[in-house]
Amino acid sequence: MNDLKSLCVKGLSKSYRSPGDSVVRAVRNVELTIRAGEIVAIVGPSGSGKSTLLNMLGLIITPDSGSIEMDGERIDGMPDGKSCRFRSANFGYVMQDFALLDGESVYCNIRLPMLYNKSIRPSEYKSRVREAAERLGIADKLRRRPAQLSGGERQRAAIARAIVCGQPMILADEPTGSLDAQNRDIVMNLLLDLCRNDGRTVVIVTHDMSVAERCDRIIRMKDGVIQRAEK
Ligand SMILES: Nc1ncnc2c1ncn2[C@@H]1O[C@H](COP(=O)(O)OP(=O)(O)OP(=O)(O)O)[C@@H](O)[C@H]1O
Ligand SMILES: [Mg+2]
Repeated sequence: MNDLKSLCVKGLSKSYRSPGDSVVRAVRNVELTIRAGEIVAIVGPSGSGKSTLLNMLGLIITPDSGSIEMDGERIDGMPDGKSCRFRSANFGYVMQDFALLDGESVYCNIRLPMLYNKSIRPSEYKSRVREAAERLGIADKLRRRPAQLSGGERQRAAIARAIVCGQPMILADEPTGSLDAQNRDIVMNLLLDLCRNDGRTVVIVTHDMSVAERCDRIIRMKDGVIQRAEK
């Protein structure tokens, strides 16, 4: 069982300024608590700021203003090296575009986060990669390159990479977007199992209401603002 982790954000905002474009206020003054051990869905139209919010929660994007606390301690604003170690110890990420390394095998892609996680011994790498790949049904694809996988298999490789270290918090951006109904259910069962039986806290961004409805709570975003929390 992991140590349960909660997140609390206050006044979180992020704008983007692209050359020749007006300023986009992607996330505006968001207040949000993710309780320890819950599984939460964030839904909303395309462009409503879901990925920006998720990536700020996971310290991948730096907010313009606001604060992020984990279990009551500020975690934003750490120096780079410390932030990097903190991320690797605490967050498993599924990125919206999968972010797999094309030049590496599926095995090396899934192993990658363990290279930065000092609590995992190299002697564990192989068995951990195999176990994660088996849970996602891609254990027979480990020697291939990502380009030699189907879209759904690439997505499952990205999820295997997010769970391989066993961090207490999983942040998943559209983890079922490329999956058929059967694999969507396998991935949701896995994320629910990691939450219920393994003590992980899980945040899922999704467009799929059948995924969102299986979560403890649904958070709706529109135009960078949280509309209302349900359940
Ligand atoms: N790097 C960037 N530079 C400029 N604008 C950006 C950047 N990233 C996102 N945006 C803009 O910020 C807004 C929010 O984007 P974000 O990716 O957070 O939305 P989203 O809700 O995840 O959308 P989707 O459901 O399509 O993934 C959008 O208007 C988008 O165009
Ligand atoms: Mg997105």
